[in-house]
Amino acid sequence: MKHFTSINDLSEPRKAVLEALELKKKANQLDLSITRDKVLCLLFFNNSLRTRLSTERAAMYLGMKVMVMQISETGWALEFEDGVVMNADKAEHVKEAAAVVSQYADVIGIRSFPTLTDKAFDQEERVLSAFVRYASVPVVSLEGATEHPLQALADAMTIEEQRLTPRPKVVLSWAPHVRSLPHAVANSFVLMMQRQEVDLVLTYPKAYALDPAIVKDSRVIHDQEQAFEGADFVYAKNWSSFENYGQRPEVTEDFTITAAKLKQAKFMHCLPIRRNVVAEDAVLDGPNSLVIEQANNRTFSALWALRELLTHQRP
Ligand code: CP
Repeated sequence: MKHFTSINDLSEPRKAVLEALELKKKANQLDLSITRDKVLCLLFFNNSLRTRLSTERAAMYLGMKVMVMQISETGWALEFEDGVVMNADKAEHVKEAAAVVSQYADVIGIRSFPTLTDKAFDQEERVLSAFVRYASVPVVSLEGATEHPLQALADAMTIEEQRLTPRPKVVLSWAPHVRSLPHAVANSFVLMMQRQEVDLVLTYPKAYALDPAIVKDSRVIHDQEQAFEGADFVYAKNWSSFENYGQRPEVTEDFTITAAKLKQAKFMHCLPIRRNVVAEDAVLDGPNSLVIEQANNRTFSALWALRELLTHQRP
């Protein structure tokens, strides 16, 4: 794996989950010969709590050094188009920026959310793709415009740890929110679950269909109550419309997750979560919530990815 910006970069997703869980068990006794003193540079175009801290924590386990930059606030505004006359607001081209950062770091992490207004720009992953193209070291996504692979790896680890049956039923449910949110977490979760031993069901209001290229032939049941029947895991996430890109069409059905709807199912969410909008307090404070375990696994999904990228670094 040269870069990790999509679940599709995993040649063996199931093996990645099992290896990451093994690393979690022996995180304090790792062979650091390849990773010690290697430098990780994290560039954030957007805010974060879990991704920043868990990736730094993973780097600590690996004996790495970490540089973090809130590039959108303290860096030069970057140009991503080729051949433009840079006489407006963009001060530096990503060609130079990516090449320069590659001299300071052995791995570059990038967080760059979608615009949710320019579908073509977002679908091309213009920011992450430019860093992959112009950097000379591996790039790991800290959440891109269309995917959040470190999150999905942590989610699959959590399901593997918590499952009580060989092939659990896993439901991804759209949930309400007060803002337009990206599709990245849902996309990566779907791509990951399609490659795990689970019975995957998606439920969302008809106006919130995900990218058909991601969903493919995964089962969709629009009636949330019906979708939840016999579920072992319910993963809640809001996303904006894909068809009417970035819009928030009105929903008449009540998709907020309640303890009564969940019944026996374990509850998952990537966090941050808006209480009593996405899910009620009783869900988050109840015994079936796995959200803290999921967040803990972010450290070990990052640990797996950093180790993998440095082990298979190009000469
Ligand atoms: N789940 C997740 O990526 O959290 P942050 O946005 O806080 O990093």
